[in-house]
Amino acid sequence: MALPTIGFVIGSLRKSSFNRTLANEAAAILEGRAKVTFIEFSDLPFLNQDEEFPTPAPVARVREAVAACDALWVFTPEYNGTLPAQLKNFFDWMSRRATPEAPAQPTVLTEKPATASGASGGAATAGARAAVSDLMAYIYMNVMTEGQAGFVLPGQAWAEDSWTLSDDDRQALSAQADAFLAFMSK
Ligand SMILES: Cc1cc2nc3c(=O)[nH]c(=O)nc-3n(C[C@H](O)[C@H](O)[C@H](O)COP(=O)(O)O)c2cc1C
Repeated sequence: MALPTIGFVIGSLRKSSFNRTLANEAAAILEGRAKVTFIEFSDLPFLNQDEEFPTPAPVARVREAVAACDALWVFTPEYNGTLPAQLKNFFDWMSRRATPEAPAQPTVLTEKPATASGASGGAATAGARAAVSDLMAYIYMNVMTEGQAGFVLPGQAWAEDSWTLSDDDRQALSAQADAFLAFMSK
């Protein structure tokens, strides 16, 4: 049987993003059980309805990449208690139809299973994960809210701008991967 494809969406645009490190760990954990595609979206323009149609080329490319996935897993930092603006912009674009004439059609997100994890300061991204989970549910995704792993970054990560996950961290991420694979196959 073909492996399911999970699209990884990183909420940070930073080159040495800790959340990208987290996503790389999750990709390694999923090896042999899912195909992972990183959905790169840093070239999306800010959504402006004056420029929505015809679909800008980066939007079409990212929509195609999302459509090819069976599920999405978001890895996000927390900005001021919520999700970063670039991640909201990604979901705003993906929540729209390709043509103005098809308002009733499903989008590339409709009913897609989704979950979220994240690494940040003290709140372990609780605010960002809650916000992005609410957003994904609002745009008709099938969201796994139980068992989301949040991580408080250790001093070492900030000092070296590089994060080495502990065994406990890997275990928490692994538990979420197991839960998400089960959730997807329901
Ligand atoms: C504008 C801004 C607001 C932030 N607000 C929060 C916050 O509310 N809570 C928190 O824990 N960290 C906050 N941070 C710190 C980020 O969560 C932290 O830099 C993040 O882990 C970086 O993730 P990255 O390495 O994936 O970019 C904020 C950072 C920025 C740039």
